Amino acid sequence: MKHTLLECINNKNTSHIPIWFMRQAGRYLPEFREIRKQNPDFIKLCLNERLSAEISLQPIRRFDLDAVIIFSDILMIPYGLGQKVEFKKGIGPILGDLNFNIILNTKPSDFVEKLSPVYKAITRVKKNIKEKNLIGFAGAPWTLLMYMLNKKSPKNNFDMNKIIKSKSLMKDLVLKLEEIIFLHTKEQVNAGADIIQIFDSWAGLLPKDKLSEYCYIPTSKIITNIKSLKVPVICFPKGIGDNYFDFCSAVKPSCVSIDYDVNPQQIKERLDGIPIQGGLDPKILLGEKEEIKKNVEKYLNTFKNYPYIFNLGHGVLPETKPETIEYIIQLIRNKK
Ligand code: CP3
Repeated sequence: MKHTLLECINNKNTSHIPIWFMRQAGRYLPEFREIRKQNPDFIKLCLNERLSAEISLQPIRRFDLDAVIIFSDILMIPYGLGQKVEFKKGIGPILGDLNFNIILNTKPSDFVEKLSPVYKAITRVKKNIKEKNLIGFAGAPWTLLMYMLNKKSPKNNFDMNKIIKSKSLMKDLVLKLEEIIFLHTKEQVNAGADIIQIFDSWAGLLPKDKLSEYCYIPTSKIITNIKSLKVPVICFPKGIGDNYFDFCSAVKPSCVSIDYDVNPQQIKERLDGIPIQGGLDPKILLGEKEEIKKNVEKYLNTFKNYPYIFNLGHGVLPETKPETIEYIIQLIRNKK
């Protein structure tokens, strides 16, 4: 029996727990750092079809995980829409000024042309994997809007009202993002992706009365469109706490990825069968083996006989030892 994510999501098969890790391709792997050292321009690296395919496959060779996520970034969308995007060492992404005219007038065909190496990398990876699923991804409209307006990762004192320039411009930008996110995911599916994950990493910044307008409604439109391609969608609305339930009834994802603040038992009882992914706090992976084992088992026991994909509650941290990933995979596979 294959440990595929599709078996879990589409057929609710609980005989195996598929395993993959958000941010599995990257920062914590010496073989990634080696390539990165020689490629100081991160956007260029994401547009290098051969190297992005190679980086996507690195964690698979090392760990034999059940899914490959394509090596790319959510900020390739603002880049494709003509906004300057740079990744500064020790700082993170820095975006240029947002030019509404350029963004709103970007033609879909020009966007696809600019990002074509991403789709070609997907086709390359697909040829190298047999019984594994290939995950394509995009940022959700809110998280992208946040980066495009704030021009960097938000700090603790983030104020939503400060970044909102004008209500009507926000509406136009959200509509443009809905169109382009769907286009980008459709191209990934056409190139060979079997699953799409939508990262709303900063959904937790939205006040409750704005969740519907900026998160649920736009995400739900994109999800409906992706589902029409017969591809399941995993949604990760990080940091929204109790609103996970409202999110699931409004958006109806094929699978929901939970963060480490979500109580796994409660969500299982309330979600009524929607496949669940993730949860374990990535910081646990920096600690002792005993603690890791206890926490992995907590998730495995909670989701016994429930369609569950093993993953973390956010990405693998750069300080994580590759052996820890190996250890967790052994724990899960030996349990069955
Ligand atoms: O999951 C994977 O391994 C596939 C590749 C992937 C990357 N970014 C590569 C990357 C994926 C799925 C992402 C998603 C992404 N990018 C998100 C959503 C997931 C999350 O973690 O919340 C976000 C918010 C971004 C934006 C981004 N990209 C930031 C804030 C940064 C800098 C800090 C950081 O997280 O590393 C990046 C850079 C980035 N994206 C790196 C990698 C491997 C590190 C690049 C480096 O070597 O400097």
